[in-house]
Amino acid sequence: MPEPIIAPSILSADFTRLGEEIARVPDADWIHVDIMDGHFVPNLSFGAMITAAAHRATDIPLDVHLMIENPEKWVDDHIDAGAHTVIFHVEATEDPVSLARHIREKGARAAFSLRPGTPIEDHLPILGEFDQVLVMSVEPGFGGQSFMPDQLDKVRTLRREIDARGLDCTIEIDGGISRDTIAAAAEAGCDAFVAGSAVYGAEDPNTEVGLLRSLAARA
Ligand code: DX5
Ligand code: ZN
Repeated sequence: MPEPIIAPSILSADFTRLGEEIARVPDADWIHVDIMDGHFVPNLSFGAMITAAAHRATDIPLDVHLMIENPEKWVDDHIDAGAHTVIFHVEATEDPVSLARHIREKGARAAFSLRPGTPIEDHLPILGEFDQVLVMSVEPGFGGQSFMPDQLDKVRTLRREIDARGLDCTIEIDGGISRDTIAAAAEAGCDAFVAGSAVYGAEDPNTEVGLLRSLAARA
């Protein structure tokens, strides 16, 4: 088994000193960047200028989560800003396959995400077009919410399908990941784990990254 991937979310960081906050997690595998438009989700965060600023601050790959309507309109800005992976929501686009192909042609990894209420079954046929799927284990929009364990059924379905078809597709989970929940998510089959409040709320964020990784590896 490859090492679990830990992706601290800068949504829980102190934006007045973003570069220093990213520098506090040197052992992070990816940095998760939460883009919210106030329409797709009831909260507004920041745009591609912050993806670019994060890219200037670190060499760690940026995992950019677009919680926005019309993702087609914005993916290029984030790829040009340095996104390593671009995650859009299947609920926000009519044509996820064309968008994934476009993202890959531009040289980034393509991922889709689903709200907790969106079933995975209809989207299994398009998995081969994607490098990653992000399962939301909270309603997207805010950090610091409680983990929804029922979302692990979706992870198990994905794990079975990806393994059965021999696909190279990362399963990532986002929302309420902490010392208390990461082992269950790892057991269900997740490869990558977003953690916002658990990392940036810790006394030492980098130690927390290591601890979360070892809890996931042991599961
Ligand atoms: C929620 C965001 C998450 C958020 C996670 O809509 O997509 O990435 O930052 O925060 P925690 O880990 O605090 O649930
Ligand atoms: Zn996110």
